[in-house]
Amino acid sequence: MNSLKNDRYLRALLRQPVDVTPVWMMRQAGRYLPEYKATRAQAGDFMSLCKNAELACEVTLQPLRRFDLDAAILFSDILTIPDAMGLGLYFEQGEGPKFSKPITCMADIQNLPAPDPEQELQYVMNAVRTIRKNLQGEVPLIGFSGSPWTLATYMIEGGSSKAFTKIKKMAFSDPKALHLLLDKLADSVILYLNAQIAAGAQSVMVFDTWGGVLSPRDYQDFSLQYMHKIVDGLTRENDGRKVPVTLFTKNAGMWLESIAATGCDGVGLDWTIDIDNAKARVGDKVALQGNMDPSMLYAAPERIEQEVQTILAGFGEGPGHVFNLGHGIHLDVPPENAKVFVDAVHKYSAQYHKG
Ligand code: CP3
Repeated sequence: MNSLKNDRYLRALLRQPVDVTPVWMMRQAGRYLPEYKATRAQAGDFMSLCKNAELACEVTLQPLRRFDLDAAILFSDILTIPDAMGLGLYFEQGEGPKFSKPITCMADIQNLPAPDPEQELQYVMNAVRTIRKNLQGEVPLIGFSGSPWTLATYMIEGGSSKAFTKIKKMAFSDPKALHLLLDKLADSVILYLNAQIAAGAQSVMVFDTWGGVLSPRDYQDFSLQYMHKIVDGLTRENDGRKVPVTLFTKNAGMWLESIAATGCDGVGLDWTIDIDNAKARVGDKVALQGNMDPSMLYAAPERIEQEVQTILAGFGEGPGHVFNLGHGIHLDVPPENAKVFVDAVHKYSAQYHKG
């Protein structure tokens, strides 16, 4: 059941030898693909798409039909947990996610339930099971969750934010309340990711999109501490195979050592750090995922290929690199350019895997 035709992605995360560098793209299923827009229109809205296992499976597989990707990622969203906690997630045209009942005080936090992954979040587990079945062992399936800090920003700000004043106000004026929320979220994320693993996810990733807006002390205290708790609480093996865990904090190049010290297998990098620098600092402890600027996909094919070669050369010889964008693919990128990117990673990386 667990035989994979292409396991480069899992091997690279465990720093085992591979023939070429594996590659996938953050947000590889999405609106830059016309077939995604068509399936989404069929589902109605975004959450209906997430809640329909057959359609969520279809959009997960769409980028794999176009590109030679080495991993599939569950089609869902990080905000499923707060939605299942009763905050009322909705999407307003062009404005991103919103909550109708954001968290405002300690009492709200004390009343939050811990969602049961096979009850309120069963639609996610059904999507995982359906995708695994339909992948037929072609490539591994990545499950994911948001980090407690990143989830808390949406839950307290009520949606996306630029300055994060509401959550920082709570962090600095009522830290006990915020720590209780983060601890509850960490517990829910552990249940959620372990359920995804039990349902068939072969690797998991934690997205900490907003940890990088904190000071170094506060990052440790309000974000990394809780991701560490998650790493400690995860089932790291399934069906006799290791289940690697990757932590991604955007804008965290200066904190790589402490992220690697959590015991995770992979660290996701955005494009604001050179991968050779990252490798020199933590390459003996973790694999690295990244790290091309997603805006490079607007460039001409030759420029994209050149950037891929520069990053491959930066990482240099040996295993431990999963190629990716430094953040999600933009919605107006031509799909042909994504193909140039994926093909270039395989074409130019073989030379680094001869030993
Ligand atoms: O990578 C993949 O292909 C899997 C799917 C995936 C989605 N969201 C689908 C999605 C993943 C891994 C996420 C994670 C996610 N969601 C993050 C962390 C990663 C990151 O990008 O930093 C965050 C912060 C969110 C919260 C979220 N969900 C936002 C800010 C938005 C709006 C973005 C936008 O472009 O409007 C969403 C909605 C969302 N999640 C979409 C998709 C494809 C767009 C929905 C649509 O079709 O309109």
